[in-house]
Amino acid sequence: MAIAKIGIVTVSDRASRGEYTDRGGPAIEAWLNSTLESEYEPIRHLVSDEQEQIEAALIDLADTQGCCLIVTTGGTGPAKRDVTPEATLAIADKVMDGFGELMRSVSLKVVPTAILSRQTAVIRGSSLIINLPGNPPAIADCLGAVFPAVPVCIRLLEGPELEIKQNTTASFSPNIK
Ligand code: MTE
Repeated sequence: MAIAKIGIVTVSDRASRGEYTDRGGPAIEAWLNSTLESEYEPIRHLVSDEQEQIEAALIDLADTQGCCLIVTTGGTGPAKRDVTPEATLAIADKVMDGFGELMRSVSLKVVPTAILSRQTAVIRGSSLIINLPGNPPAIADCLGAVFPAVPVCIRLLEGPELEIKQNTTASFSPNIK
């Protein structure tokens, strides 16, 4: 089977203008490297907090690049420029409510401001798209919580097998085939 492609989208006005270095994208890649046993190809995008740009990046990664999984970081909060959930929902075929619910509930044990994130997850075609908050420590909190279900979701979408390293927070052996 072809190597899994995973899209990583950093949504940040300041990082996209070069005012600071993108820390979210590399943190997602580092987390995936420490969690995934199987080889994968990361494809990164860095965009500003513009709904059109976010939608274009998600559509490129899902439809053109054929990513089985796309993870975004940033733009999930209540500020005027935060539109990542709107962009994600606008290009979605299905909304996967459980991801946002679980990520917020796990994050609430870490920070009381977790309820300020409107992060969600959706399916577009054969791609699972997951929003994460922009703060890099949130990446491990949120991905660690939902990742046990991710290989099963991708299998149900008839995508590639993602193998997770044993003894990581994300390891789980489902009965669903
Ligand atoms: N979740 C975790 N796990 N860790 C965090 O630091 N930050 C919160 C929330 N969720 C945070 C978190 C804050 S302060 C905000 S404003 C929202 O995520 C939205 O962040 P974003 O706009 O950078 O996506």
